[in-house]
Amino acid sequence: MKGGVGKTTSVVEMATILATDHNKRVLLIDIDPQTNATFSFVRYDDWSENISNNTIADVLGRNNNLSSRSDEYDINNAVIEDVAGISGLDLISSHLSLTFLDLDLSSQAGREKILSRQIKKLNKEYDYVLIDCPPNLTLAPQNALVASNHIVTPIVPDFYSFLGLPLLINRVKKLREELEIDVTFLGCMFTRVERNTSLHSEFIPKIREVCENERIHSFNTIIPKNIKVSEASSSSSPARIQYPNESGVVSYGNLVKELLLTLEGN
Ligand SMILES: Nc1ncnc2c1ncn2[C@@H]1O[C@H](COP(=O)(O)OP(=O)(O)OP(=O)(O)O)[C@@H](O)[C@H]1O
Ligand SMILES: [Mg+2]
Repeated sequence: MKGGVGKTTSVVEMATILATDHNKRVLLIDIDPQTNATFSFVRYDDWSENISNNTIADVLGRNNNLSSRSDEYDINNAVIEDVAGISGLDLISSHLSLTFLDLDLSSQAGREKILSRQIKKLNKEYDYVLIDCPPNLTLAPQNALVASNHIVTPIVPDFYSFLGLPLLINRVKKLREELEIDVTFLGCMFTRVERNTSLHSEFIPKIREVCENERIHSFNTIIPKNIKVSEASSSSSPARIQYPNESGVVSYGNLVKELLLTLEGN
């Protein structure tokens, strides 16, 4: 729910690493109207000319004048294969118009389940589908929760995260009951960490304790603050591709290994 903690950066780098270093078939879905994950791979001109009519906004049924569910938009039309030339990594891009999704679908029954239904219609099979969420729990991220097995929560270790994490955990518990879904926390990960600041070294153990009390895993690997990771995010190519040896990228590599160990035991 917190803005600017590295959600998009993490999903972009981890999706790329899963495809390039582990040979996984990966689909990244950008469900945030800010479209930051989209523009981490695609240039605006290209998106505007060739892609903007086939985005997650269409998948979720914004501007949907179709009369029945069987006429629903075909999700396969929104898949950009091997995005930015990265073999094994596909992207469904986002659109600013997603901002109005809650209003547009306010009277539609089952509106939290559209993405889940659509994902089942994908022609290609994927090992992992990663969804980049906005910093709120509106209808689009609710669709992500319904469609997902797991949640990964990036955290910048500070006082507000310490206060906010229990709120997020409780809110997800409530949504799990309301929406009757099984999504679980796979883990919390520390991002943009400056190890030599007392603030970060104080709050990492405190937040790990909150996780432990809630029986939520906190990943051992910590992602350091790294300027190259930040620079890559505005240049339509992930840091994994541009600066593979940078500390931030190496850490994301270790985090993905930890994640695979948790999920696949290898
Ligand atoms: N490890 C890092 N080192 C340095 N800068 C980083 C790191 N991770 C992310 N950033 C930068 O911090 C800013 C916020 O990151 P990002 O966009 O990934 O956060 P977010 O949680 O997705 O934000 P929002 O809530 O707005 O979607 C960006 O400018 C990004 O480049
Ligand atoms: Mg983001």
